[in-house]
Amino acid sequence: MTKQNEAGLPTGPQLAAAVADLRQRLDAVILAHYYQEPDIQDAADFVGDSLALAQQAARTSARVIVLVGVHFMAETAKILNPDKQVLLPDLAAGCSLADDCQEEAFASFLARHRGHKVITYINCSARIKALSDVVCTSSNAERIVRSFPADQPLVFAPDRHLGAWVRERAGRPLVLWPGVCEVHAQFDERRLVELKESCPDAVVAAHPECPAAVLRHADYVGSTSGILRFASETPARRVIVVTEAGIIHQLRRANPGKEFLPAPGADPSQNALECRHMKRNTLEKLYLCLRDRAPEIALPEALRLRALAPIQRMLELS
Ligand code: 13P
Ligand code: SF4
Repeated sequence: MTKQNEAGLPTGPQLAAAVADLRQRLDAVILAHYYQEPDIQDAADFVGDSLALAQQAARTSARVIVLVGVHFMAETAKILNPDKQVLLPDLAAGCSLADDCQEEAFASFLARHRGHKVITYINCSARIKALSDVVCTSSNAERIVRSFPADQPLVFAPDRHLGAWVRERAGRPLVLWPGVCEVHAQFDERRLVELKESCPDAVVAAHPECPAAVLRHADYVGSTSGILRFASETPARRVIVVTEAGIIHQLRRANPGKEFLPAPGADPSQNALECRHMKRNTLEKLYLCLRDRAPEIALPEALRLRALAPIQRMLELS
């Protein structure tokens, strides 16, 4: 007999089986970000970083795409696939970077920097992408910056920590929009140093959305997929992970003999940091979204076309 909860929905292994069954019947592909809960990552056809999710969305032949991540990721999948149905289990799954960079304010910022080409991190809305020359992710930001002639003035938005890191790596002046990721901005230099001192054999892998004071203690800085690559390649047996804790599921799966320690935030009650937006998605919401084919992403065609050009430029350069 199928086990059901009070709402009449399957639970436990039967919920995962119901998700797999619906996915097959709908000809859907489930694309999940590394920051999702382990049960969602295990139910997905593909788990990846922001660039890989966009690349998968660009090449899938499935009729329905379920993007289990945050809104800008599902919106990017829809921009690339106007004829497919694109679903996001919880439409309220946002991002502080996208929320703190609104069209009117950004347009007047750009008006103060005429003659600049505009590079935007994929963590922004379609309206901001539509004002950009090229989009980037943390995997390719340095390459995208370097693709412009050395004397070309550049704006980089909306993450000022990622922008400062790229500015240093590429040795290029960049005008930065002052946004931050509300999760990575909380990593704390003092608590990271304390953790390092208590585990002298551990190496540190950090995401470039962290502040510079944190990144200077890292042995490796890169996107979530870069952190996974580094963790597999390093001879160290212990790795301190300075990004959202959801990635530890894949790190442990890929490296059963190694230990992964989440870096703490400034708040002493938090030994690991999680993104409340990413964590709005649950396996139950994934099931409901496949069952009801909703919530669905929609956007006006003129806006989609304006946002598509800088995304395509990124994919060509990646
Ligand atoms: P990546 O997975 O592309 O490194 O991005 C991290 C992130 O914060 C996504 O919102
Ligand atoms: Fe946005 Fe940060 Fe959450 Fe990623 S982790 S979705 S950048 S708030």
